[in-house]
Amino acid sequence: MTRILAVANQKGGVGKTTTAINLGAALAALERRVLLVDCDPQGNASRGLGQEVAPPHLYQVLVGQAEASAAIRPSGFPNLDLLPANRELVGIEVEFVGLEGWQRRLSEALEPAVGGYDWVLLDCPPSLGHLTVLALVAADGVLVPLQCEYFALEGVSELVSTVGRVASALNPALAISGILLTMYDDRMNLTKDVEREIREHFGPTALSTVVPRNVRLAEAPSHGLPILRYDIRSRGAEAYLELARELLGRAA
Ligand SMILES: Nc1ncnc2c1ncn2[C@@H]1O[C@H](COP(=O)(O)OP(=O)(O)OP(=O)(O)O)[C@@H](O)[C@H]1O
Ligand SMILES: [Mg+2]
Repeated sequence: MTRILAVANQKGGVGKTTTAINLGAALAALERRVLLVDCDPQGNASRGLGQEVAPPHLYQVLVGQAEASAAIRPSGFPNLDLLPANRELVGIEVEFVGLEGWQRRLSEALEPAVGGYDWVLLDCPPSLGHLTVLALVAADGVLVPLQCEYFALEGVSELVSTVGRVASALNPALAISGILLTMYDDRMNLTKDVEREIREHFGPTALSTVVPRNVRLAEAPSHGLPILRYDIRSRGAEAYLELARELLGRAA
């Protein structure tokens, strides 16, 4: 069975792409077949894996000019494939306005291509626009990275209500599968306070794994590598392997 997780939070810079790349690589290292779909016109997941994005990419797939299988390529990391994106994808936010049935375009396009994968991760942009809705309709769960800072919960209620609306109108299987604390710094009282608040608010939906602030995680994309290849002994690599194991345990 294929699990499809949207990595979403409309707040920018909270660790969505870092999580999509490195959780993807960690699941792949644990011998799962993984597809990472870059749903963000910033193309950070594609470039963070060192990929030059020649067409066809996600834009062509969404407008029906290419099959998903033609746009999927190896990431360079074993068991991890990539469906890349670039700036052209921003056109969707305009072109899909008022288009009949646009919400299911990603879900329908991925359907024939995902059977061979155990996990599909959808890296969402920092907005609740068309691209995030396309991902939520295609997914069966949402992983929400939250940065441990004072405004962490700002906007999360909006995301939760969007997930609820998509679930009731278009995708009844959809649920928030996990809240992931990122850029965790246990020397800071603020981190502890935010963590307490989040765990009280979300209960067991808040994952036990936390991702520490780790400079190796920030450096890895400039080398086009997942952390497991860039520095397997780093705390960041350890955390994403632990996250993969936690999600595999929950999915079992
Ligand atoms: N655990 C971490 N430790 C240190 N730096 C991190 C960590 N996680 C992410 N970063 C860095 O923080 C920045 C934002 O991370 P990332 O790009 O993953 O966030 P995002 O939510 O995908 O951003 P956007 O909303 O723009 O798509 C990046 O420079 C990234 O390298
Ligand atoms: Mg991103």
